[in-house]
Formats: sequence, structure tokens, C-alpha cells
Amino acid sequence: MSDTMKKLWENPANPELEVAFQSAESANVCTAGTRELTPEEIAFHMSRAEEYKALLKERLPEARYLHSLNVADCARKLAELNGVDPDKAWLAGLFHDCMKNLPWDEQEKYMTQLGDKLPDHVLNTPKLWHAPAGAAYMRDEIGILDADMIRAIKYHTTGRPNMSPLEKVLYVADYVSIERDYPGVERVREAAFRNLDEAILIGGRFTLISLLERYRVVNYDTFAMYNEAASELGAAYEELSNKQL
Ligand SMILES: [Fe+2]
Ligand SMILES: [Fe+2]
Repeated sequence: MSDTMKKLWENPANPELEVAFQSAESANVCTAGTRELTPEEIAFHMSRAEEYKALLKERLPEARYLHSLNVADCARKLAELNGVDPDKAWLAGLFHDCMKNLPWDEQEKYMTQLGDKLPDHVLNTPKLWHAPAGAAYMRDEIGILDADMIRAIKYHTTGRPNMSPLEKVLYVADYVSIERDYPGVERVREAAFRNLDEAILIGGRFTLISLLERYRVVNYDTFAMYNEAASELGAAYEELSNKQL
């Protein structure tokens, strides 16, 4: 039995270990060498906002750059509604896709640099690499050492159970930002500004349906995130038909 499993058996009530039990990758929260940013550090990074925007404008195609700005703005609004630091949410939104259009070998390099053990289906799905790679880029190149912000970027594509409020803000902002126009987005957007968990339930359902319809692999964390939201809120939605949702 591994040390983690031993600890689980010895202390199953520890919430962090419960997450470990649900999903090995979620337990690996890349906190080594990180800490919470001080208000002064946040102010310092915000003072460099224009510089960061210029950097991203150079790294990303126009549409991706505009998406990053929109997600940052949406994350700020959702943060204000949910007691999350709006500047941290804005910065995480700005950097969340910073590796998205970089060559695969660059993405792979930063993903490896993050230092987390990643599940095989992430390693085997290059479209998912930009999330852990972006987390490492923000930490190592920009010097934003905030573990919560790093995790928010790492999990922005898959989500995970037991997300922090900041992680939820970024996850939801990414799929309801102003330029998003997929069928049903209005409903998710409306839910997002009412209750983040509702948006996760409805948005997670859309994601799962889309993956299952195409016979794609469902990330364990995405399923566990959906189950967490459904166990809390699903009963309230049960009477509504598929068409309404
Ligand atoms: Fe992304
Ligand atoms: Fe995005």
C-alpha cells in the first residue's frame, strides 16, 4: 500500500486526502515552492497588466488574445460576486490560455516543468497540455507563485472535484465569457451569475454529453466534478426535461 493510501486509511476525514481518494491527480496540487500572494505582490502584478497584455498579444493569435481578455474580465465579475480576489481572478483569466497556440514541444516542456504527475489521458491528449503548461509558465516565467492561481489554470479545461472558489471562477468564466456562442450558452451564463455550482452542473453536463456522443474519453476529474455538483444540486434539476436544460 502506498504512503498516500496508508494515510487515507488512517485519517479518512482529512478533506485533502478525500480528494486524493477520488482522484490521484487532484491530490497532486503543485504547492511545492508556492504560497499565497501578498496584497503588495498582487498590486505589483496588476501594475504590470499592460506589459502582460502585450506579451500575450505577441504569443497568441488575435481571437485567442481577445478570448483571454474576455475570460479575465468575466473572471473578475464572477470573483466580485463570490468573495474571490478580483485581481487574482483577472490575472489567472489573462494567463489561462497563454500556452494554447505554442508548438507542442514547448507545451510539453512546460507541462513537464510543472512537476506534477499527470494522468495518462492528459499526457495522451495534446489539446489538454496547455492547461498544466500555462500554470508552469505563469509560475516560472511571470513569477506568480500563488498555488490557488496555479491550480486554477492547471484545471481550467478539465475541472476537478473540490475546486476552490477561484478555480470555479476561472473554470466557469472560460465557458461563459462574452464571445462564447455555443448552443445553450445563455443558460449557463445566466446560472454562472447566480451560482457557480449551478453553472458547473449545467456546463459539466454539456461537456459530458458532448464527449460521450463522440465516444471520447471522459477525464476522471471532469466526471468527479460533475458528480459533486449533481449530488448537491442535481435533485433540484431532476424535474426539468433535457430540452429545458
Ligand atoms: Fe484553455
Ligand atoms: Fe480558454
